[in-house]
Amino acid sequence: MKAAVVVTPGTIAIEEVPDPVPGPAEVVVRPAAVGICGTDLHIMDGEFAPAFPIVPGHEMAGEIVAVGSAVTGYAVGDQVAVDPSLYCGHCYYCKRARGNQCENWAAIGVTVSGGAAEFVAAPMANLFKLPPTLAARDAALIEPLSCAVRGFDVLPRLLASSYLIYGSGTMGLMMLELAKRSGAESVSVVDLNPERLATASRLGCSAAVTSADELVAPRGFDVVIDCTGAEAAIRDGLGRVGRGGTFLQFGVASYDARVAIEPYEIYRREITITGSMAVLHSFDRAGQMLAAGVLDPSIFVSHRLPLTSYATALDQFRRGEGRKILIEP
Ligand SMILES: NC(=O)c1ccc[n+]([C@@H]2O[C@H](COP(=O)([O-])OP(=O)(O)OC[C@H]3O[C@@H](n4cnc5c(N)ncnc54)[C@H](O)[C@@H]3O)[C@@H](O)[C@H]2O)c1
Ligand SMILES: [Zn+2]
Ligand SMILES: [Zn+2]
Repeated sequence: MKAAVVVTPGTIAIEEVPDPVPGPAEVVVRPAAVGICGTDLHIMDGEFAPAFPIVPGHEMAGEIVAVGSAVTGYAVGDQVAVDPSLYCGHCYYCKRARGNQCENWAAIGVTVSGGAAEFVAAPMANLFKLPPTLAARDAALIEPLSCAVRGFDVLPRLLASSYLIYGSGTMGLMMLELAKRSGAESVSVVDLNPERLATASRLGCSAAVTSADELVAPRGFDVVIDCTGAEAAIRDGLGRVGRGGTFLQFGVASYDARVAIEPYEIYRREITITGSMAVLHSFDRAGQMLAAGVLDPSIFVSHRLPLTSYATALDQFRRGEGRKILIEP
């Protein structure tokens, strides 16, 4: 089969590689679409993936083309989305229902061959069967949405909360859609890129601004979510959490990013600072929410490109052009 292969950090090529063969409890999927995100850039830059070459692609959905001998409940022709998480099930954290902190953490498209290929193998346990109303080419959005759902799982939910979201990329926009449905009093979005902000406005945020200074919020915000990973945004956001409020670090900062906190204010204002990492028991719920129309794929997906454009798509994402870019192998 053909696959996009990160041969060594910084080098990507379309190569002929062996077709995957399903293990007993696995299926082989022909991806209809695979999304590109920051994780793919990290892999391209030589981080995250433990070894090269690697076929990237962890946001995928498509049709089952082969099933292993022990697979039940799935058949060739089924349309499915694939949760890329491969938890070991037997480590300290897996035993405590924290599989996303697995000590033997692995993932399809990060540590093993991913969906940027004509075929990809996946455990039956990782599948979400798509309802007929949800096209596989849109269902690649389930994985990033499942990360956003996990983010909401660590947030308090109090009706009439005010939300401040930094970043109006795919993830910030997904957080906006979830916040809108959580009974928020307001959802404000900050981004430096006016084009990105235009989408946040189109999706009905309360305010879309290039600096939070433009917002009138004398008590700060109940929930502040960083979806940038940028030190400047995180620093600014931490200072805007209101009394009893929560700051969620969702964006992936660089390893050496440092931001000061004010312990006195955290004590005095009873502020919670928390993080959320990838998917934890949130994949099926994200699938159900996407099927129920929580977000409009025609707005979230800005580009659909063929597999041969994988390298171009990575460059385009790095430049911040468009929104979710999907490769259709
Ligand atoms: N925690 C998780 O599970 C998880 C999952 C997926 C992605 N992420 C991370 O979430 C972040 C957002 O993902 P994305 O796909 O939307 O990325 P993206 O690059 O498309 O969007 C980031 C946005 O932040 C904006 N931005 C950058 N610096 C800013 C600043 N100082 N102030 C305001 N806005 C600023 C950019 O203009 C851009 O629009 C990334 O760091 C990504 O790695 C985390
Ligand atoms: Zn991703
Ligand atoms: Zn584990």
